[in-house]
Amino acid sequence: MTTATHTSSAMIATKGLTFAYAEDPVLRDVSLNFQAGEFTGVIGPNGSGKSTLLKLIGGILPSPSETVFFKNRELNRYRKKDLAISIAWIPQEKQIAFSFKVIDIVLMGRHPYLSPLSFEGEDDYQIAQAAMKQTQVLEFADRSFNEISGGEKQRVMIASAISQKPEVMLLDEPTSALDIKYQIEILNILRQLNERENKSLILAMHDLHLASKFCKRLVLLKEGQVFCEGPPAEVLQKEILEEVYEVKVKIFKDDEDGSLLVVPERL
Ligand SMILES: Nc1ncnc2c1ncn2[C@@H]1O[C@H](COP(=O)(O)OP(=O)(O)O)[C@@H](O)[C@H]1O
Ligand SMILES: [Mg+2]
Repeated sequence: MTTATHTSSAMIATKGLTFAYAEDPVLRDVSLNFQAGEFTGVIGPNGSGKSTLLKLIGGILPSPSETVFFKNRELNRYRKKDLAISIAWIPQEKQIAFSFKVIDIVLMGRHPYLSPLSFEGEDDYQIAQAAMKQTQVLEFADRSFNEISGGEKQRVMIASAISQKPEVMLLDEPTSALDIKYQIEILNILRQLNERENKSLILAMHDLHLASKFCKRLVLLKEGQVFCEGPPAEVLQKEILEEVYEVKVKIFKDDEDGSLLVVPERL
């Protein structure tokens, strides 16, 4: 007998998730649990399925029946608007191009809360302002989104997601296009949201050092399958990374915070 619910304590669960855009699956039999309040990084080589997994979890791509669950209920069964209130998805910076003003983009985060044909009210403006303050973009409020830098765009998108007041935030490589100052700045904002407001975070990450520094748990994908998952120190091991990334590596530990630096071995 099949049921549309899936009982577990997880906030988000995938169960035997296999997904194909065309014929060949790009995700295969992915079963993962994401608990409320977790800070998870999804890592893996280019094309391993990180973005696809995030889009399925966020309801951006329709998932096959009974494979993705939010609070024990099949994701497909939620109304789009209800889902938007609970789960925010932030695409990769290079995929974002808007000719809107920054404030309007942040206010878009309030749209799931508005009834049809109604406009934002004072409350919505206040929430948007507070979010812009939190990510330090208030001074850009009236600038055109297309005219600000990559790091500023990322912070605006996070402000928009914060205004949405979601329980879960999904971010696709939020720091890949940024220099180290902005990388740390954005990851610190995300850490605060996780620690102070108990937001559940799932990030696709490229940089293994930053992943080990900020994420409490890592999921490593290889060719659409979960190769392993666990605390960063368990996943970022020489033998594991050499097999998945197909390159010899050395791993150094930063004794101050225990984060791991993965570098290719000299050829
Ligand atoms: N819209 C799409 N249509 C067809 N194939 C896609 C699409 N998006 C991604 N793919 C393919 O799916 C696989 C996984 O891609 P993706 O999820 O973007 O991986 P990652 O984010 O880890 O780089 C890749 O082989 C990619 O070429
Ligand atoms: Mg990707």
